[in-house]
Amino acid sequence: MKTVMETMLSHASVRQFTEQSVSQETLESLIRCGQAAASSSFIQAASVIQVAQTKVRAKIAELAGGQTWVVAAPVFLVFCADLQRVNYACVKNGLGALEGHTEHFITATVDTALVAQNVLLAAESIGLGGVFIGGIRNNPQLVCDLLKLPEQVYPVFGMCLGWPVQTNAVKPRFPMHTILHTDRYDLSQVTAQVEAYDQQMQAYYQTRGSQQRVSNWSAQTAGAVQKKQRPHLLKFLQNRGFLLR
Ligand SMILES: Cc1cc2nc3c(=O)[nH]c(=O)nc-3n(C[C@H](O)[C@H](O)[C@H](O)COP(=O)(O)O)c2cc1C
Repeated sequence: MKTVMETMLSHASVRQFTEQSVSQETLESLIRCGQAAASSSFIQAASVIQVAQTKVRAKIAELAGGQTWVVAAPVFLVFCADLQRVNYACVKNGLGALEGHTEHFITATVDTALVAQNVLLAAESIGLGGVFIGGIRNNPQLVCDLLKLPEQVYPVFGMCLGWPVQTNAVKPRFPMHTILHTDRYDLSQVTAQVEAYDQQMQAYYQTRGSQQRVSNWSAQTAGAVQKKQRPHLLKFLQNRGFLLR
């Protein structure tokens, strides 16, 4: 049995699953673990949609760029930042409806991410594997339509869960001291740190067990962020009632 820290340090996303199902009881235990995460001002601004219908999953897989594991995974969840209940709390207590403040967007999104990470970690602790699916934000309005999400709710990402076909290699993170600063941010090291990590990741990508390629962290990251700008998101979020002020 791994310790919690060992489970955390052996995380690797899983995109290939065996045929074995995940019981509803297990899934609900994982969701309870998700709910146990800390919550900003205890607003609990996350909802999870368990997507069972294959045809809905197929549409989501397609809009996410052809991610076949969205259909094949035993479990597919969509994690939503949800201010509906918070809005009702405000109205119920005579304080007026929410007005789309940026702070509320951040707190709802952070709450949702914490729930999701707890779900994934709980899943990994019992031998399940999974992967986040940010690709759903390629067409978030279609996801809202498919899942009947009301205003003040937006889909942050999906998550596939299931029993892994194989144990995937752990991707080396930045050396810890690259992200841990003492007392003040140390900008002077950034260039050297990225250079060193690029070399480490280049060696990793060239020698790992599957999908070997010639790349490094900065090339990969620059390509990814430039490709996935998703310029529709601001308008989409504003239409949902987020980021209005
Ligand atoms: C918010 C978020 C969205 C992601 N979206 C996708 C996705 O759409 N498809 C995918 O295959 N992986 C996705 N990933 C997984 C990342 O690619 C993966 O976590 C990263 O490459 C590090 O690899 P590891 O998780 O195996 O350590 C996402 C991860 C996060 C945190």
